[in-house]
Amino acid sequence: MGGEAEKWVLMVTARTPTNIAVIKYWGKRDETLILPINDSISVTLDPSHLCTTTTVSVSPSFDQDRMWLNGKEISLQGGRFQSCLREIRARAQDVEDKKKGIKINKEDWQKLNLHIASYNNFPTAAGLASSAAGLACLVFSLAKLMNLKEDNSQLSAIARQGSGSACRSLYGGFVKWCMGKEENGSDSLAVQLADEKHWDELVIIIAVVSARQKETSSTSGMRDTVETSALIEHRAKEVVPKRITEMEGAIQNRDFATFARLACTDSNQFHAVCLDTYPPIFYMNDTSHRIISCVEKWNRAEETPQVAYTFDAGPNAVMIARNRKTAALLLQRLLYNFPPQSDTDLDSYIIGDKSILQDAGIKDMKDVEALTAPPEVKDKIPTQKSKGDVSYFICTRPGGGPVVLSDETHALLDPLTGLPK
Ligand code: DP6
Repeated sequence: MGGEAEKWVLMVTARTPTNIAVIKYWGKRDETLILPINDSISVTLDPSHLCTTTTVSVSPSFDQDRMWLNGKEISLQGGRFQSCLREIRARAQDVEDKKKGIKINKEDWQKLNLHIASYNNFPTAAGLASSAAGLACLVFSLAKLMNLKEDNSQLSAIARQGSGSACRSLYGGFVKWCMGKEENGSDSLAVQLADEKHWDELVIIIAVVSARQKETSSTSGMRDTVETSALIEHRAKEVVPKRITEMEGAIQNRDFATFARLACTDSNQFHAVCLDTYPPIFYMNDTSHRIISCVEKWNRAEETPQVAYTFDAGPNAVMIARNRKTAALLLQRLLYNFPPQSDTDLDSYIIGDKSILQDAGIKDMKDVEALTAPPEVKDKIPTQKSKGDVSYFICTRPGGGPVVLSDETHALLDPLTGLPK
């Protein structure tokens, strides 16, 4: 270790995306190592709209490991954080910063303490995979700070021990988490099926139905499912393996009809096993159900599916439209059926890629009111209009994987003190 009067602070800042599973992970065969009972596949969401930014820093002046999430200090004592920190420190390499005159030998990492600050640009625990992006970012940024030799797939096996779905956030585009067979979890890791450019027509619209903290955590929910559901074994052993193969093909061939059928039926089956859990778990609410029927009616009215939907452990709907034209029509239908509480704030009601609004020819809610009821809605009255049932919509697309950012513009920690800015 070296550096002027041991006052130095060395840091790395990185950004990591969230992901949405289109073939779901639900159920563990090992709770500590976080080993799943089936493979899963996800789409990475564009980090410019949904991401975690993390700054990790090290200094001989730090007297303990500390972490701040969205500006508030949180405990690092949990087993999952500790597993990630232990696994990363065990693989740390020598680091030298000649400009600052710092040299850290790999053995030093065991003694040095870390400061970590993380920020989500979306509500934590609102069912938008904040833990996935958060844990992936923690692992990725620490791996850069400590100069790990492991590639992203090997890093995913560490992120997995923080939160299962986090392992899929180590890549952009379309990602598969292979459940693996080894007892030590060494082969339970993420691989990229295709990058985000492979299928760049897709547009993703997320209806944030509730920004409240979710009621049953994924962790305890899936534990209860494995213990009590009679359907989960059939799902993991019989249904998912076939769907994984089919979904890989659909992604490879950009076959939207198959992609949509698999994503929707897999989401529905995941919520069915939640209902088959005792006591039952309800993640979706009335608004979620109305969104499903809106999409289903539209898909059935068309020759071929236009939109896929999927729901994680919460009521938010993630809709994937086959292209921009469809996304504009989808947004029209959504705004028509789920208008904002107040008519004037369309700008804050649609966040992310607002250009979809222009494509839809909508400047304000008057344009929406002027729309005639979508044809498939007309004869199936009542499709109640419900103001305020959706908090806001996020328009986004498939996006890239983790990146290192410049500390000068993005660091969340002060370069001199290592404390939150
Ligand atoms: C419904 O990864 O949050 O989003 O591994 O216990 O941390 P832990 O669970 P978590 O579960 C995610 C479940 C899901 C489906 C998915 O992302 O595949």
